Amino acid sequence: MKVQVIGLGGIGKNLLKTINQKNGLIKSKLGEKIEIVSVSDTSGTVITDGMPLLRIIQAKESGGLKEIESFEKMSALKAIKDIDSDLVVELTQSTLDGSPGLDHVTAAMENEKDVVTANKGVLTTGINMFEKIKEYGRKMRYEATVCGSIPVFSLMDYSIQPASIISISGFFNATSSFIASKMGEGMSREAAIDQAIKIGLAEKNYRDDIEGIDSARKSIILHRRVFGSSISMKDVQFKNIKEGLVPGNRLFSEINESGIRIGYIHVDGINGKKNGIEAPMSINFKTDIFDSLSLNVDHDGPVESAAAVLNDIMLIAKEKMMKQ
Ligand SMILES: NC(=O)c1ccc[n+]([C@@H]2O[C@H](COP(=O)([O-])OP(=O)(O)OC[C@H]3O[C@@H](n4cnc5c(N)ncnc54)[C@H](OP(=O)(O)O)[C@@H]3O)[C@@H](O)[C@H]2O)c1
Repeated sequence: MKVQVIGLGGIGKNLLKTINQKNGLIKSKLGEKIEIVSVSDTSGTVITDGMPLLRIIQAKESGGLKEIESFEKMSALKAIKDIDSDLVVELTQSTLDGSPGLDHVTAAMENEKDVVTANKGVLTTGINMFEKIKEYGRKMRYEATVCGSIPVFSLMDYSIQPASIISISGFFNATSSFIASKMGEGMSREAAIDQAIKIGLAEKNYRDDIEGIDSARKSIILHRRVFGSSISMKDVQFKNIKEGLVPGNRLFSEINESGIRIGYIHVDGINGKKNGIEAPMSINFKTDIFDSLSLNVDHDGPVESAAAVLNDIMLIAKEKMMKQ
């Protein structure tokens, strides 16, 4: 399967690393390798032509993609339109207006390519992508958009199909959990934020994490997907956001058909790094027949989310193979 990667930040680089590490296993599971045909960032595009993926990561982490001979000042949008591929992986930053991801995803679909994304902005603007996907008749998977590596959409797609989901709740933002934990250990708020940025956990704008915007995006995606709504950021109710980021608190999201509520709440026994839990995330589904179903991880970050992206690529590749 020929794949183009747009965005080489924390997730993009870890995706290349994981594909490089796992290509043997991928081939044994899919019967074919995942071939990365191009990678793009804000500087331009590299047509990979079979080069080792580690060479790309190395260039990105030293002088930039322009160090590679086949680098062209070709925008991601042009790369999606002009380079032959089956699937586009969109990994640019999540923004309120969905740019530039929305243009990338739309161009991919217009050019008959499937899409995998971790970009929440793409699914939360005024354009309802869940409707668009149907119109274009393409495949799109977006597991890493909500709770990183927790298999939220795979669970919905494969494991609880007979159920009606009544409500969803949980701690969806690992960065604010991480910062509150570090503050509980005595670190200053500023130092904890710096560390969350350094390890690639925080959003491009870390305020999105601590002020509930990231949790709201994830909740909007869930609400649109589960209840078929067109809910948007202006409909989300925020509570206790300004004063809430303190040790022992966690940013809690609650979703049901009537709407979305986000706010910091106190959780007993999680002050500091008790139980070794530093940046936990959890999600609970209340359904009619599976009752209350919870999933959680003790740590989440770009490595785990990149693995969720890779799983999405493999699911689409598998689906395609079964159709042939
Ligand atoms: N980090 C996580 O743990 C995590 C978890 C789940 C979901 N997500 C989501 O996944 C996405 C990627 O996250 P990240 O942490 O990897 O983000 P990031 O580190 O901010 O990287 C974003 C990448 O997008 C590239 N980019 C921006 N505009 C572009 C454009 N117009 N054309 C081509 N490339 C462009 C940037 O290029 P330059 O390198 O040239 O600046 C950069 O490489 C975000 O939407 C985020 O919300 C992140």
